[in-house]
Amino acid sequence: MKKEMILQDLRLSDKRMKHTLGVVKAAVMLAKRHSPEITPEDAEVAALMHDFTKEYPVEKHLEICKTYGVEVTEEEIASPKLLHAKSGAALAKAVYGLKPEIVSAVRWHTTGKSGMSPLEAVLYFADYIEENRTFPGCVRLRNYYEKEYGKRKDKQKALFLALERSFDLTIRDLLAEKKPIDAKTIEARNYYLKLTK
Ligand SMILES: [Fe+2]
Ligand SMILES: [Fe+2]
Repeated sequence: MKKEMILQDLRLSDKRMKHTLGVVKAAVMLAKRHSPEITPEDAEVAALMHDFTKEYPVEKHLEICKTYGVEVTEEEIASPKLLHAKSGAALAKAVYGLKPEIVSAVRWHTTGKSGMSPLEAVLYFADYIEENRTFPGCVRLRNYYEKEYGKRKDKQKALFLALERSFDLTIRDLLAEKKPIDAKTIEARNYYLKLTK
């Protein structure tokens, strides 16, 4: 089984492993609530894989991307946090033979993008709100999502509203820290803003 293979190969610090298991739990929960077409197994595998390469040095990301023909931009080299999504997706496809839906969920889990597929949205959002996240922004977002989910008849709307808010938060943080903002994140924010109007 893919899940066991990935678990066996996963080499993460205790802190990141705890985070990853939190993402597994949140992804299964979100999939069940919003996208019953996603199997719990797929949600788990995507979550286990999402930060697989996060602790690799920059050279290793570049080596993986080169090996599997994945293009890397100068912005990504300057901000290697973005690279783990690409190298992780490359390994998901080439080493573990994961299905395209899971590969693309890993690929877009950091920046998000406009019009995310159900699994892309579930993984992206699970990464943001998993229970071990203690940043005030994450805690507030988690509470906001639960409140909207509880009170709204339209449960998809609750998720879309929370997604839009998550991009606002990310963009605000990046501005405050004088960090570059990925164009995909801006497109995602505009997309979910329009969707929730
Ligand atoms: Fe990540
Ligand atoms: Fe993560």
